[in-house]
Amino acid sequence: MNPTELARAIPKAELHIHIEGSLEPELIFALAQRNGVALAYSSVEALRAAYAFTDLQSFLDIYYAGASVLLTAQDFHDMAWAYFLRAQADHVVHAELFFDPQTHTARGVPMAAVIEGLAGACRRAEQELGISAALILCFLRHLSEADAFATLEAALPYRQHFIGVGLDSSEVGHPPEKFQRVFARCRDLGLRVVAHAGEEGPPEYMWQAIDLLKVDRIDHGVAAMQDPLLMAELAHTRLPLTVCPLSNLKLCVVDDLRDHPLKRMLDAGLCVTVNSDDPAYFGGYLNANYVQTTEALSLSRADVVALAKNSFEASFIDPAQRSAFL
Ligand code: ADE
Ligand code: ZN
Repeated sequence: MNPTELARAIPKAELHIHIEGSLEPELIFALAQRNGVALAYSSVEALRAAYAFTDLQSFLDIYYAGASVLLTAQDFHDMAWAYFLRAQADHVVHAELFFDPQTHTARGVPMAAVIEGLAGACRRAEQELGISAALILCFLRHLSEADAFATLEAALPYRQHFIGVGLDSSEVGHPPEKFQRVFARCRDLGLRVVAHAGEEGPPEYMWQAIDLLKVDRIDHGVAAMQDPLLMAELAHTRLPLTVCPLSNLKLCVVDDLRDHPLKRMLDAGLCVTVNSDDPAYFGGYLNANYVQTTEALSLSRADVVALAKNSFEASFIDPAQRSAFL
């Protein structure tokens, strides 16, 4: 088996997937029709043609508009189920899914519809596909700390359905320190904590995520390459980074996949993993990320195995059960 074939076939965990970013244009149109929601695009093709992003914000504007078709628990279930079918085809055996409740509750969608719809799909994935699945609630960092606290309170009746919290949306100008108190409360509640940092923002935001939010993982983290001290720290602690190569390409964080730092991070001893971020928008699910990165960076079989192993090491699977995946 060559490295590309291995990249496709190897069992893997996905740890950085925004479930709203798995909404394919076809499903956006189907849900818009089912729910009587008007869209700004006349066809699936016209919508897909708009997926030409110049930076994170240009993507987020269209991503939040796409999510406006989600209204009922059934919608959230159907979106996640479509993702799980694709994940199974890519040999994903464990998935930790981000969701953005504020995107929905701000439109009047009940928290119960969001969480119960997604949790139902996770249960079904376990039963019917053998994929273990968990949910991570993300706070939108462009909104206030008070809004994050209110969202946490609204989600607590459904505490058993999510394992952790994250921080996403527009990074620059919204440093992790803004959410230090809400993350402390989440840690006190026994939630795992992760944060997007070092995607478009500076290494300083990664230090804040580590020192102030006390994260269990950093999402993206490619900016670590600019800070030798941070690279040494990450190699020493093996604090995992959930890297998303095709996302970085589509959002112009890198100009060419051949320039992506993933291999250099791996060689430096960091616990890096490969993930799809928003696969419906960035041109590929998890295997597309593994395969295209393997080819662009000439990864070896050993590199591919290390990435898959890292995905389980970095996961929030109960340590007692982790050995079953390795
Ligand atoms: N929300 C969905 N995808 C995101 C990304 N790549 N960065 C920040 N927020 C996001
Ligand atoms: Zn992300």
